Amino acid sequence: MSFPTHRPRRLRQSPAVRRLVRETHLVPSQLVLPMFVREGISEPADISSMPGVQQHTLDSLRRAATAAAEAGVGGVMLFGVPARRDATGSGADDPRGILNVATEAVAAEVGDALVVQTDLCLDEFTDHGHCGVLRADGAVDNDATLERYAAMGVAQARAGSTLLGLSGMMDGQVAAVRDALDAEGFTDTLIMAYSAKYAGAFYGPFREAVDSQLKGDRRTYQLDPGNGREGVKEALLDVEEGADIVMVKPALPYLDVLADVRASVDVPVWAYQVSGEYSMIEAASANGWIDRRGAILESLLGIRRAGADAILTYWAAEAAGWLREQL
Ligand code: PBG
Repeated sequence: MSFPTHRPRRLRQSPAVRRLVRETHLVPSQLVLPMFVREGISEPADISSMPGVQQHTLDSLRRAATAAAEAGVGGVMLFGVPARRDATGSGADDPRGILNVATEAVAAEVGDALVVQTDLCLDEFTDHGHCGVLRADGAVDNDATLERYAAMGVAQARAGSTLLGLSGMMDGQVAAVRDALDAEGFTDTLIMAYSAKYAGAFYGPFREAVDSQLKGDRRTYQLDPGNGREGVKEALLDVEEGADIVMVKPALPYLDVLADVRASVDVPVWAYQVSGEYSMIEAASANGWIDRRGAILESLLGIRRAGADAILTYWAAEAAGWLREQL
């Protein structure tokens, strides 16, 4: 008898063989860049907990969106940081609200080169920081919030957004926004549902990025980190309500949920590599503890391997540049 009988290392013998047998690939068009635009600033502002990411002015947003398009990313996802907030988040569906104004500008600039997308949620626009409107007792009012989302969705479509990212985790939000869009003639506007969005610690730096007013937490609407089956159920419900794309978020701590959702639905599945995931790798790299480029590309490849068809990542433009070098 001769051992070993199996030699899987044969497939790893050279860069050429490894390249030929790689199962999972990452290309620039699978990456979406989240971007922040802030009302009332004259220069882009750094976000201290997210080194390399900025709150943009309208002008710097346009320039950065153009750079992202040139790098070949698949889309940009816009988040607005308004100067004024109120209880119902009225800036969200105001055509002169910062997010809608920015959407119009970015769509005019790069709308043909990539997919212009907008975050559809009230948390940046409310003075209490919750993703919906509140009842008298302080709880988030699901059904009253749906009406606000419907108005916000129509305003975003009118401003030129091609894809709405429904990140509020209200029950029935996909159906409510779909109905409102269709009633106004926006039958082509895509809905991407943040179906399995978990309440946890990894959104910390984002709260600085959008100057979040939130006190407390989002545990009555976002998912409990212990629940995988419930994430799949949410994705199935969103598909039934008409979601064109579903999402799992955060990415790395929830790869099992991502794989399960991928196996359970027949629409594209996306993942959001969130602010905390970004900042961990940036911080470790800045300390010289980890190879930055290697860790970034490996994390993105891992998210793809688990089942993501596309990934929202703050490294989208930079990673797209590296991926083009490799081609
Ligand atoms: C809510 C929203 C959040 C993120 C994206 N959309 C914040 C939250 O749910 O608290 C977080 C993204 C990130 O951390 O990178 N509109």
